[in-house]
Amino acid sequence: CFARKEVKMTYLLGGAIASSQAEGGFHDGGKGPSTQDMRYLDGAWTPEQIETKHQQSPFTQAELTAALADDDTTYYPLRRGIDFYHHYKTDIALLAELGLQVFRTSISWSRLYPNGDELEPNEAGIAYYRDLFTECQRHGIKVLATMIHYDIPVHLVTAYGGWQNRQLITFFKRYVTTLYTRLGDVVDYWLPFNEINAAKFSPWDGVCLIPTPRAGLDQAIYQSLHHQFLCSAWAVKLGRQLVPGKLVGGMIARFTTYPATCKPEDNLQALQDEQYANWFYLDVLARGSYPSYMTRYFNKIGVHIHTEPGDAALLQEGRVGFVAFSYYFSQVATNQPDWEQTAGNLIMTKKNPYLTTSEWGWQIDPVGLRITLNQLNDRYGLPIIVAENGLGAHDELTADDTVHDPYRIAYLKAHLAQLDLAVADGVNLLAYTMWGIIDIVSCGALTMAKRYGVIYVDRDNAGHGSDRRVRKDSFYWYRDYIAAHKEAT
Ligand code: BG6
Repeated sequence: CFARKEVKMTYLLGGAIASSQAEGGFHDGGKGPSTQDMRYLDGAWTPEQIETKHQQSPFTQAELTAALADDDTTYYPLRRGIDFYHHYKTDIALLAELGLQVFRTSISWSRLYPNGDELEPNEAGIAYYRDLFTECQRHGIKVLATMIHYDIPVHLVTAYGGWQNRQLITFFKRYVTTLYTRLGDVVDYWLPFNEINAAKFSPWDGVCLIPTPRAGLDQAIYQSLHHQFLCSAWAVKLGRQLVPGKLVGGMIARFTTYPATCKPEDNLQALQDEQYANWFYLDVLARGSYPSYMTRYFNKIGVHIHTEPGDAALLQEGRVGFVAFSYYFSQVATNQPDWEQTAGNLIMTKKNPYLTTSEWGWQIDPVGLRITLNQLNDRYGLPIIVAENGLGAHDELTADDTVHDPYRIAYLKAHLAQLDLAVADGVNLLAYTMWGIIDIVSCGALTMAKRYGVIYVDRDNAGHGSDRRVRKDSFYWYRDYIAAHKEAT
């Protein structure tokens, strides 16, 4: 009988960052250089050029060559981050003051294996993450750890060609085994890859490929992805043996898509945009096989993936235990070529006349979060984590030594309200980790000017500043919201 019963809001509220955007200390503790440490900003660029660089001019071979020869941090914001590496104790104390229930960060592979192909791990790297996660535990904060948030040891690219090379699976298995055996007791949830679909839209980030020349790029992307899918399956399989009871998940950058009109052609476009950009990735990770619609697509773009015996069985065996996504915007699908465009996370999108945008042009759509949660719940029937969501904005430190950010409070309020509605819809929501809980370097725009945090970091885009942490108005708002949420559960 379907008797009326009260729905409990038992999901966890948290915050997220990534090691490559926060830690800095790019040589400290024996760390090797990573692929994200190579991303370079010309000091002569204007802030506007910096902000649009990622989408208009992806990472180049010339930049990699220059960066490999350069040991400086001046034009490499990601080498500096917010110096979280040296501030993590006080930063975690601030997160505890917020009442955070779960903290998502990533582990830098090149801190544990500086080159990626060593047989033994770097003990100083393990000690750092052990201490960081133990600090979280001490404050009652659960840990969601991403194994790869875009960055891998750069040596794996220069010596092996990156993810295109199947040998990376061997190195990854060694890395994962170390993570589980040495850090397994201080991590609660594991995510092998951040936004695995970034491969297609930002190849250097996603699969560590320089996106030129264009010829052969799709083949290289999908072959690399196949190796990442197998690594994800290995992470699940090894997790079952080495950290039994802990959940290992899969994540995409979600591009929630609406047909522009009720024209059948627009609906077909929306269906296919979602299949190729989003569902394909989670279908492989959660259902354990390549969906049939990809055969049509691979034929169309001339991609043939090289597989080996045992791959199909491994993908089945290594199906993820939860699905996760980042959510920043929604977009419109249409086959009308002249539709107005705007920016979005990782991609250019089509404009929806019913939505407003952030300062960076990303379309703000709280209801789309509820829609996405329902879609994932219906499609996979697995627990769900909203691994990233937040507002990037220019913040100003005022004379009264704070940041008044009503725009961020409004954004969070609207999006968090949709979580409760989705749970009432029947969605099995495990956690929500707000993106950039503390200001970090923006990944796309490589700038400190695009801030997401409820905690301000006094550091500018050239790396100048006191590094002081300042509570924004949104800090107090989120603290009270979390307290009320805990009360209600
Ligand atoms: C996600 C990434 O795609 O978007 C994060 O996982 C990133 O690393 C976030 O920071 C927001 O994008 P940006 O470009 O504003 O930093």
